[in-house]
Amino acid sequence: MLAGIFITLASLWYGQNNGLMPIAASAEAELVDGLFNAMMTISVGLFLLVQGALVIAAFRFRRRAGDDTDGQHIEGNVPLEILWTALPAVIVLGISVYSFDIYTQMGGLDTMGHDMASHKAKSVEVAYAPSENAMPLLVGSDASEDGEMAESGDNARLLAKAGLGVSPTALEQGAPLEVDVMAVQYAFVFTYKDTGVISGELRVPVDQSVKLNIQAQDVLHAFWLPEFRIKQDAIPGEPTELAFTASRVGTYPVVCAELCGPYHGAMKTQIVVQSQDDFEGWVQSQVALMMDAGETVAVQPEPTASDTGYLAALSQPLGLKVAPEALKQLHSETENHSALHTMHSMAAESNVSTSETKAF
Ligand code: CUA
Repeated sequence: MLAGIFITLASLWYGQNNGLMPIAASAEAELVDGLFNAMMTISVGLFLLVQGALVIAAFRFRRRAGDDTDGQHIEGNVPLEILWTALPAVIVLGISVYSFDIYTQMGGLDTMGHDMASHKAKSVEVAYAPSENAMPLLVGSDASEDGEMAESGDNARLLAKAGLGVSPTALEQGAPLEVDVMAVQYAFVFTYKDTGVISGELRVPVDQSVKLNIQAQDVLHAFWLPEFRIKQDAIPGEPTELAFTASRVGTYPVVCAELCGPYHGAMKTQIVVQSQDDFEGWVQSQVALMMDAGETVAVQPEPTASDTGYLAALSQPLGLKVAPEALKQLHSETENHSALHTMHSMAAESNVSTSETKAF
């Protein structure tokens, strides 16, 4: 009984004081850490129980000097076997119910209000758009050409967009701040949906829900916020989403967590969580810089003092500003060559490596 009390207390203590997780900077992080700590408590209890029994048995039942007899023949023990089958079953079921509950609270089942028609329209819109004025990626093709297939075949894909949507509780507090995330080799480019501000780092206000629309320009990437306990693949041709509410002012890393090429390890930026006032000030300053830079950027794509101006210049070649007609040409077999030629010469003019155009 003493051992039982010791094991229980030790696992409860370690479960709460393991210090294995980085700072928790989002509302979601608390939920995930709660699950992690619960699993850690159970694991420590089981570890101490099994290892303790093993160590005790190894000493107590060891072979004594001069004892060459066979061990006692023991065959089965039904009550014991029922116990060690039932107990893990209960534990695993409990953890799965708990984790599913957390997944739901975090918006993992965000299919509410997505009927077929509205979702289809939405998916077409997203497919065409890093932002409103930027340009169609190849993604748009199956919406325009295979509309019928999308209607009948791909139900599952249309119904549930991959990723974590905005949680029901966060939705009650108003519309989230929406940011488009474009992952390219080897950077994340953030475009704020309502202001059009483009940034190389993600800035968000504290205690407000944020929704990220994630796309990949070239290859698979993964958008990971360790301090927020969330991660989502960025998949070419398959928009995904991620939602969170930052709960702690500060600067935290944003990491690409999918091997995406030789410089994958350098594909990092940061998320800056600010007070609502500081955040609005930053947005205003970026909008002002964008207005200043707006006209010169087009003519003279040199790095300017403003992040937005610089990145806008960068995102144009990345976004491959091609008219929709040019894309159609790309698909039709007759005009294939001329369209490809146009794109390659465009890419050559800008200083973007040709790997960016390989998606085409
Ligand atoms: Cu992008 Cu690794």
